[in-house]
Amino acid sequence: MAAKTTYSCSACAASFSKWSGRCDNCGAWNTISEDKGLSDRAGKASLGAKRGTTIPLTDLTTQEAPPPRTLSAMGELDRVLGGGLVEASATLVGGDPGIGKSTLLLQAAAAFARSGLKTIYVSGEEASAQVRLRANRLGVTDAPVQLAAATNLRDILTTLETEKPQLAIIDSIQTMWSDSVDSAPGSVSQVRAAAHELTSFAKRRGVSVILVGHVTKEGQIAGPRVVEHMVDTVLYFEGERGHQFRILRAVKNRFGPADEIGVFEMTGRGLAEVVNPSALFLSERGTPQPGSAVFAGIEGTRPVLVEFQALVAPTPQANPRRTVVGWDGGRLAMILAVLEARCGIPFTGLDVYLNVAGGMKVSEPAADLAVAAALLSAREDTALPEAAVVFGEISLSGALRPAPQTENRLKEAQKLGFTAAIAPRGGKSTSVSGLSLTEMSDLTGFVGDIFGAG
Ligand code: TYD
Ligand code: MG
Repeated sequence: MAAKTTYSCSACAASFSKWSGRCDNCGAWNTISEDKGLSDRAGKASLGAKRGTTIPLTDLTTQEAPPPRTLSAMGELDRVLGGGLVEASATLVGGDPGIGKSTLLLQAAAAFARSGLKTIYVSGEEASAQVRLRANRLGVTDAPVQLAAATNLRDILTTLETEKPQLAIIDSIQTMWSDSVDSAPGSVSQVRAAAHELTSFAKRRGVSVILVGHVTKEGQIAGPRVVEHMVDTVLYFEGERGHQFRILRAVKNRFGPADEIGVFEMTGRGLAEVVNPSALFLSERGTPQPGSAVFAGIEGTRPVLVEFQALVAPTPQANPRRTVVGWDGGRLAMILAVLEARCGIPFTGLDVYLNVAGGMKVSEPAADLAVAAALLSAREDTALPEAAVVFGEISLSGALRPAPQTENRLKEAQKLGFTAAIAPRGGKSTSVSGLSLTEMSDLTGFVGDIFGAG
């Protein structure tokens, strides 16, 4: 029977039975291409010796110690990994080109090598001499890391087989190609095959692998989404160009909490860890201006304070602008709608710009109230009470929903010199000394209290 031809999107990895010019799943144009199958050889090798056997669930209860982990001594990286690198794990580090992935991973390679892991750094993008130059700049030339410049998967697997490292870093997965797949390097089929072979090799031989993946906009090259489901841990390295901060975020982690972040600062000598991110994100903040609200957020297991900035300006346009950086645009539309419908505060005829300071991205629903506060403050041209933090989720009815980890948020605010907090009523009642907590049950009450009835 002839194998059925399938097609996949290189942007979102959705799969289709026929070709089309536009992906029905993510809407990207020109990203769909035919899947070239794996050769038989590639498919077979991945199953271990325990083929076809099962064990009762109850047998698992007491046995099996937690998997061995190695700490890199880069605290921010270890935290995002869920407490160090797990043996025989597969990790994907995705990010925009030029964001600093190679820098991060060369530093990580050096750190893990110094912690005693036998480490190989395979670069498919740069020659070994270039990697060494970079290592020089980063001051890590003394670390016992093995370098390889290769793109042929078979060569790399052979190298790993003979060198027997404990950690292999592959920079990047899009440059790797397998000769058992006949399509160009970087295509969905190639990226999928290379990731599959490397991760299954890792599981078989007890090697941890870290794959680097470029986020691609054009779609000619498959993005990291294609491999997300094959790995144990998915980390994204984010940041705004022109900002010094870089955030490593766990979006999936079989061995630890997702949503954990590690914060780094770019320097001429590589990435430096930021131990107190709240202080950093608020560092550019002077006296409170209209349109500014400080959100006491939780990222993973750690509280982080960030500033929301809003600007509201009249416009003659029939369709005013809604521009958001660092937050979800749909969520902004919802909050504008709730403000209008429940509090009678319209934003028609007004352009709205919303920005999270410092290049940070916030996804917590608890940021709703901080966004509403920033919008109202900008609209009324009135600064919010100085030294107050705000958090709470807003429902469509205008009610405020309590946010998890109230106490951690309040403690972080207090630690950074804030003396007041505005939060939804009904959260776990907590008091933090030196911080006055105002609890509200709905948005209308909030508007009346803070802005004198709007
Ligand atoms: P690079 O690590 O090569 O990015 P990626 O692998 O994601 O494409 O970093 C891009 C450039 O930024 C490179 O020229 C080095 C520079 N850089 C620094 O100078 N300091 C830093 O801390 C980082 C992260 C990068
Ligand atoms: Mg790179």
